[in-house]
Amino acid sequence: MGFKEQLDINKLPQHIAVIMDGNGRWAKNQGKIRHFGHESGVLSVKDIVEGCADIGIKYLTVYAFSTENWNRPAEEVNALMELLISTINQETATLTKNNIRLNAIGDIASLPQKCIDDLKSAMEKTADNTRCTLTLALSYSSKWELVTAAKKLAQQVIDQKIKIEEIDEKSFAAQLTTFDMPEPELMIRTSGEHRVSNFLLWQMAYTELYFTDTLWPDFRREDLFEAIVDYQKRERRFGKISEQLN
Ligand code: FPP
Repeated sequence: MGFKEQLDINKLPQHIAVIMDGNGRWAKNQGKIRHFGHESGVLSVKDIVEGCADIGIKYLTVYAFSTENWNRPAEEVNALMELLISTINQETATLTKNNIRLNAIGDIASLPQKCIDDLKSAMEKTADNTRCTLTLALSYSSKWELVTAAKKLAQQVIDQKIKIEEIDEKSFAAQLTTFDMPEPELMIRTSGEHRVSNFLLWQMAYTELYFTDTLWPDFRREDLFEAIVDYQKRERRFGKISEQLN
């Protein structure tokens, strides 16, 4: 029996976050340049998005470019930006056809102008799609997001729009880039690294973490379904004891 058949459709996570890691190693294993790994990684993104839409996952958030990735060699950064632009432009029609909304989180203003423009246009074209929301984390880091949220709240206090006493978990979360999504129940990281690397730190307070040795360009929807089956076997206690749950 495949993993898809083992899924409990009534216990699906609403939101899955993914750290797509291992593109460079995958390319190197084949004697190819790193960019070949990133290009192949796009095929995995496409398959996973379709896999999510197929089974009814409402939100998929993928870490496509971190704040720290700006420190990579300029040649790789430029190639990743070009790949992002070409992928967005090639895939918008398919996203629309499949009723998938494209969203982006991160310091979008720091991206090249063409990237900002094409991303905005694709987001506008897919804004009314309802089956699944694909969020690209671009020039994203959690520490950047948390500092930005703190600054926004501080400004609102200065402007006397809110009182300090009104700052709580709910009003803080409303300032985050993910204000309109549920928190991810499952986070998948590929390539055998066991880290969260500055990704959705607030949002992942109670997320189930799943790590696989599979390198991102080899990751396909069957691997996604395997991760969800593993997630469905776990008991999520949120600080309670087992007997309190049902
Ligand atoms: C991590 O692998 C991957 C990235 C930093 C980039 C991820 C980008 C893509 C999958 C392609 C673009 C995506 C979209 C949505 C258009 P790594 O380079 O750190 O691999 P390594 O650890 O083996 O070196």
